[in-house]
Amino acid sequence: MADPMLDLARAAQEQAYAPYSRFRVGAALEAMDGRIFVGCNVENASYGLTVCAERTALGAAVVAGAREFRRIVVVSDCDPPASPCGACRQALAEFGGSLQVRAVGPEREQHWTLEALLPDAFTARRLGTS
Ligand code: THU
Repeated sequence: MADPMLDLARAAQEQAYAPYSRFRVGAALEAMDGRIFVGCNVENASYGLTVCAERTALGAAVVAGAREFRRIVVVSDCDPPASPCGACRQALAEFGGSLQVRAVGPEREQHWTLEALLPDAFTARRLGTS
């Protein structure tokens, strides 16, 4: 299916900095106002500092003022395609569980809602501060 977000996620994947894993990931995150923010994974010689594509896209979005999101497209080269890791699920859940998640690989794609990927997420609502 033609999807401009898929093209943007693929272009972001090209920029992945993954010299250690060689596993390149790109993401495109659409805000409710239609703006699209992209991200790629950024690895580090101190491996644990690696940031996933989903969270670099989220950071770009938040710094631009976006707080509500419609969907995210994640592109990788594995089959089945990479779904957001647990840390990214939690980071995205901060901004709502109705986010549509589309994971695309060379062979096939998968779709979920974030709520399906991270049911009963711990969010500010549970903290009682919102
Ligand atoms: N990675 C992502 O960027 N997103 C995912 O959904 C899965 C994993 C990155 C982290 C690391 O740079 C590499 O892929 C291998 O785990």
